Amino acid sequence: MTKIPHRIILAEEQMPKQWYNLRADMKSQPDPLLNPATFQPIRTAELYPIFCEKLAEQEMDCTTAYFDIPEPIQEVYRAYRPSPLCRAYALEKHLKTPAKIYFKFEGGNTSGSHKLNSAVAQAYYAKEQGLTALTTETGAGQWGTALAEACAYFGIHLDVFMVKSSYSQKPYRKTIMQTFGATVTASPSDTTKAGRTILSEKPDTTGSLGCAISEAVERAVSTPGCRYVLGSVLNQVLLHQSIIGLECKKAMELLGEYPDIVIGCAGGGSNLGGLIAPFMQDKLLGRANPYFIAVEPASCPSLTRGRYAYDFCDTGKVTPLARMYTLGSGFIPSPNHAGGLRYHGMSPILSKLYHDGYLDEARAEEQSKVFDAAILFAKLETILPAPESAHAIRCAIDEAIKCKETGEAKTILFGLTGTGYFDMAAYASYLEGKMTDSIPSDQDLQAGFDSLPKIPGIQE
Ligand SMILES: Cc1ncc(COP(=O)(O)O)c(C=O)c1O
Repeated sequence: MTKIPHRIILAEEQMPKQWYNLRADMKSQPDPLLNPATFQPIRTAELYPIFCEKLAEQEMDCTTAYFDIPEPIQEVYRAYRPSPLCRAYALEKHLKTPAKIYFKFEGGNTSGSHKLNSAVAQAYYAKEQGLTALTTETGAGQWGTALAEACAYFGIHLDVFMVKSSYSQKPYRKTIMQTFGATVTASPSDTTKAGRTILSEKPDTTGSLGCAISEAVERAVSTPGCRYVLGSVLNQVLLHQSIIGLECKKAMELLGEYPDIVIGCAGGGSNLGGLIAPFMQDKLLGRANPYFIAVEPASCPSLTRGRYAYDFCDTGKVTPLARMYTLGSGFIPSPNHAGGLRYHGMSPILSKLYHDGYLDEARAEEQSKVFDAAILFAKLETILPAPESAHAIRCAIDEAIKCKETGEAKTILFGLTGTGYFDMAAYASYLEGKMTDSIPSDQDLQAGFDSLPKIPGIQE
């Protein structure tokens, strides 16, 4: 038997030329997006004032299984993809586990995370439509960075609303976005009506992705030639991120491997949705039965403690309503160090798959245990992980330890979504013993659930 290398990187020509749309194979579809004014299922054209037309079409398409990746997008992908599939030999040895641990590393590009996969696509479609500007929100800063790079490449202006807690924790993230020509504003801000309303209600708020989305949407709809783009949650983003799973599956096939367990951290669900896409297809079509685990922070537990309900995607309640696992759009999580996982809701596709039992398990992890795993991994595998990605590492380690106990040589695959070089404030607080876990009480969660919309006949 040939030895499996530490890293396998597909050749450029082997990179997938199509994205895969999981909805095409789902037995039962996610519930439709609703118009926030009428509570009626939204029509594609109603999304055009907010999103680029092509992206709105992708958002609503439940039947096309494969979308060709336009050549200009492939051209940019080729600059940083295919990304490596790595075997964590040192971690396996340290844990003395019979399990085989693989991870798909998306942090090797300049933006440092998987977010670039959708940023490039969204900036391209905006350019193709003749738009001149985009707006977005960013939590941890990875999405804003990725989109700033993509917009610079395609020559489009970008306005980023950055969650206030990250804005102050990660000043250099802001500088990178500015270097690529983006304008960055701490959210909530006094530059939008939504921001001013939130500030008048909670002047000391550290912000949230939900607030930043409201501001970005408002700016987009009130600026000519401008649209809003989102880095996660939406169906179109999961579609673009399917490149992760498609590459991964192809590389594993070359190695004669198939995962028993697939693990990903879950903020809005884009990396997890992308990683599992082709493996979930196998499960939906009865070809294989891998076990899927979503990992979220205990401080923002949308899948593990949220409600499966219709909710706004933003705090200002201007976006369409999606049925998803949610903590309520009014829920403001504690300023957790894994900023990219601080979102009140979850991708409607993943929510539906979880609700129907195809996404097998969701786990909420405490921050300090996540950083234990991050530091162990960094020392052994020589990659400093993003705090978000370290949630998946924590879970992979725990599963590998279980294998040691049972003697099972399972194949574990997890998504290593990004690097943590801009998260040193978080690492410092861990190393100095100052990291605390802020887990919401049932009462805290109830306040969020109380903000769920009442929809006549659907959700009273
Ligand atoms: C490195 C990294 N991993 C994971 C996430 C979570 O997002 P998603 O659930 O959309 O993959 C983020 C979000 O900002 C991130 O920056």
